[in-house]
Amino acid sequence: MSRQLFVTTALPYANGNFHIGHIMEYIQADIWVRFQRMQGHAVDFVGADDTHGAPIMIAADKAGKTPQQFVADIAAGRKPYLDGFHIQFDNWHSTDAPENHDLARQIYRDLRDRADGSLIEVRTIEQFFDPEKNMFLPDRFIKGECPKCHSKDQYGDNCEVCGSVYAPTDLINPYSALSGVKPELKSSEHFFFKLSDPRCVAFLEQWTQDGKLQPEVANKIKEWFTVRTNPDGTTSEGLGDWDISRDAPYFGIEIPDAPGKYFYVWLDAPVGYLASLKNLLERHGRDYDAYMANPALEQYHFIGKDIVTFHTLFWPAMLHFSGRKTPDNIFVHGFLTVNNGEKMSKSRGTGLDPLKYLHLGMNPEWLRYYLAAKLSARNEDIDFNADDFMARVNSDLIGKFVNIASRAAGFLTKRFEGKLSQEWGDSGSGLLKEIAAASSSIAQSYDTREFGKATREIMLLADKVNAYVDQNKPWDLAKDSANNAQLHAVCSVLINAFAMLTRYLAPVLPSLATAVQTFVGQSMTDWNARANVIAIQPYQHLMQRVTPEQLDALFGVVEAAPDAPAAKAKAAAPASSANAPGGEDLAPTIHIDDFVKVDLRIAKIVHCEAVEGSTKLLRLTLDAGEKDEAGQPRLRNVFSGIASMYQPQQLVGQLTVLVANLAPRKMKFGISEGMVLAASHGDEAAHPGIYVLTPWPGALPGMRIR
Ligand code: 2FM
Ligand code: ZN
Repeated sequence: MSRQLFVTTALPYANGNFHIGHIMEYIQADIWVRFQRMQGHAVDFVGADDTHGAPIMIAADKAGKTPQQFVADIAAGRKPYLDGFHIQFDNWHSTDAPENHDLARQIYRDLRDRADGSLIEVRTIEQFFDPEKNMFLPDRFIKGECPKCHSKDQYGDNCEVCGSVYAPTDLINPYSALSGVKPELKSSEHFFFKLSDPRCVAFLEQWTQDGKLQPEVANKIKEWFTVRTNPDGTTSEGLGDWDISRDAPYFGIEIPDAPGKYFYVWLDAPVGYLASLKNLLERHGRDYDAYMANPALEQYHFIGKDIVTFHTLFWPAMLHFSGRKTPDNIFVHGFLTVNNGEKMSKSRGTGLDPLKYLHLGMNPEWLRYYLAAKLSARNEDIDFNADDFMARVNSDLIGKFVNIASRAAGFLTKRFEGKLSQEWGDSGSGLLKEIAAASSSIAQSYDTREFGKATREIMLLADKVNAYVDQNKPWDLAKDSANNAQLHAVCSVLINAFAMLTRYLAPVLPSLATAVQTFVGQSMTDWNARANVIAIQPYQHLMQRVTPEQLDALFGVVEAAPDAPAAKAKAAAPASSANAPGGEDLAPTIHIDDFVKVDLRIAKIVHCEAVEGSTKLLRLTLDAGEKDEAGQPRLRNVFSGIASMYQPQQLVGQLTVLVANLAPRKMKFGISEGMVLAASHGDEAAHPGIYVLTPWPGALPGMRIR
């Protein structure tokens, strides 16, 4: 029976590009969604940017943009990642969209106006206030000396040196990280969601412990309900009420009937799931209320292990007590580490830059396969290891699986006009039956998000197909035309086996599956399609191997390639002294006369495009306010080795800094008439990334930098 599923991934903060942790989660969910669709189920799979909160407001201010413009610019950079890794959301929306404002406010009203007693309470609390910035300070923007270990410059919520957790008011000599001034304690009315109310506690104990959640997740949650004494002597109280309001100025959604008060970002963030769905449905003329009222609707959220509280306590309680449907499950995954444990930080990501991966021409389906092979249904961390990646892609995916097709296709095309035999012999028929019989067990693994188990089962079948090849040696059979019937049978078995294995891998390798669909003339999107292959199209190469050079380039351990002159210059100046900011020694002292020889100008990037044949360079067309002899604007062509970091469309319209009097340089792709400034670390391997400079607002093309 066809089911109706509503699936989401966690909404990323709109203050930076995606990092590999986001991509892993999206790939996990995308594989699951594709599998469900192959089963004939209807799925609506949505995402959105999580746009609100003080950090985004402050970052926008620093960038000289309105918060709305700031988050719109971030949203504009999402597509290349999602398309690049074949992540097929049906909708990508924003928590600042009108649907979210309306839904969040309605949910709040429903909680507040409950007939059996309100679940919202107003209390006066004391908080640190920055008198210079005229705003209450979020914990992360208060710093001071740790009350436990006395380390300086620690955040207001926890100490990064000794790990202790405290209230900002416990800090010694607190100061505002925004202005540096001493914050004042000021009282203000805050709105609380009464999570400690017996109605909420009873509901959540039941909801979290009824067996749907992963056991390790449910066990952890159980601890949050109990009143207990911690090892450090403090007591934990069980469920506490949740502070859901913030005072202006705040980028967020205004609380109904409370001017100047806004929802804390985490109140409206998950509502963004519903807002994105509503937007999708309404754009397609479907009724949101009717959709949500369908008792058979199943709702699933894929999230990381750091945001379990929000999704298993606050979110189901908000939904339930506002009279709405609660999620059917929350699928929690662990973190991704890269090359043995370099921890993924939420803001920095890791050394594996997804866009760089794509720009290096690396196949997105290698990563999808590799992550699938490592993922299970458990909430545990997984590691991306370069050697392991190469082995799994080259030996398993290509060596065991893709090669099956290439070994058989040539003979079929050359000797049998591409037509397949339907006589397979006993061992061939037996093999194909065995592969077909694995369908339900592999399906079960996908359905339960045991993707590693699914890929292992598929590779074991591929091993059996390869054993069949070795037993029947088509290349030997081909030597004598007396063996034609047998050669035909063996190759036909191989192509049928390959078609079935491809279908099993289609949720992971959608693009390869599409190519195979054309090759064998069979559906690769219906899990249960099971006709025999009748004929094949001429074989086109399906997948390249990954090379060590690509992995070296990905992790930045290569000497700069010829088309990245800036990186080459840097490699020549490694850090050797203690004073090596950014990973390299300061250059010898120069005098102002030396400096003025370099003419730096503000330039506008009026056009930008990828350079065919180069994975590193972008071609920029710059307007530095110059005119030619006829008085017409003169534009410059400049190549810059920044393709690993930027999509051309992200740069168009931006201002940057041009070295305007650099002698033109002839490069493989044309003449470069200057250089744009960009920052990068001296040790590229440990700190990959290159960042283009932009001036503060007000600077205009042509202005000199001095
Ligand atoms: O932790 C985060 O990155 C949040 N932006 C996740 C929000 S998930 C949902 F609630 F919107
Ligand atoms: Zn400390």
